Amino acid sequence: MGMLCRPSLLLLLFTSLFISFGFAEIRLADISSDDRPIIPVDEFRFGHTGRLELNVSRVTLSNKDPDLDLSKAGFLLCTPDAWMYVLQQLVFGEVTCALDSDLVNVVYDFRSLEGKLSFDTVFRVNDAERYTLVFVNCLDQVNVSMTVRSEMYNLEGKENRSAVETILPGVCFLSPLIYFTLAGIWIYILYKILLTVSRS
Ligand SMILES: *[C@@H]1O[C@H](CO)[C@@H](O)[C@H](O)[C@H]1NC(C)=O
Ligand SMILES: *[C@@H]1O[C@H](CO)[C@@H](O)[C@H](O)[C@H]1NC(C)=O
Repeated sequence: MGMLCRPSLLLLLFTSLFISFGFAEIRLADISSDDRPIIPVDEFRFGHTGRLELNVSRVTLSNKDPDLDLSKAGFLLCTPDAWMYVLQQLVFGEVTCALDSDLVNVVYDFRSLEGKLSFDTVFRVNDAERYTLVFVNCLDQVNVSMTVRSEMYNLEGKENRSAVETILPGVCFLSPLIYFTLAGIWIYILYKILLTVSRS
């Protein structure tokens, strides 16, 4: 019984590891003197209880002008579908920077830095959609350097994992039954073999 319990424990352990990895996406990115206006960082399919943890450090801009409009640089989340409309808005001049569009979710704009070189933030996502995390730099001729750590996950995944864990006692309760069934079959087979041997 104990022996049957252990493999199922292992199996459940693997399942829960699998679930926790399947439900999270962690990305480390080193951005070095980059002048691209749009830098995609990572993408993830969120559920209804999605979270983005963003940890950014060593932020450096090539232009140190204190009057720089830092609302023109920052991180946003956007679905690929919405992004098509954002590009349209940019082409038609409805917005001058993707961060100003009402179709994106602004996660962090650099105004909030207030002179700091790093920040940590958590952003909640409630729409079950695939989102891309994008860094947008609408500042003219300003290069950005920074270290970005992003982690995207669904709390549902974590809930599933504890659900798996609560099934555990039930599985261990079942295993004596399986054990006895197997033992019964085995004894039956042995009995048959013994019968044929004694007959010959
Ligand atoms: C900004 O980046 C571009 C392209 O990588 C590079 O040519 C340019 O020298 C950089 N400018 C500064 C001020 O670092
Ligand atoms: C990233 O930021 C979040 C939100 O502040 C924080 O909870 C988490 O501990 C940070 N992670 C790292 C590796 O710094």
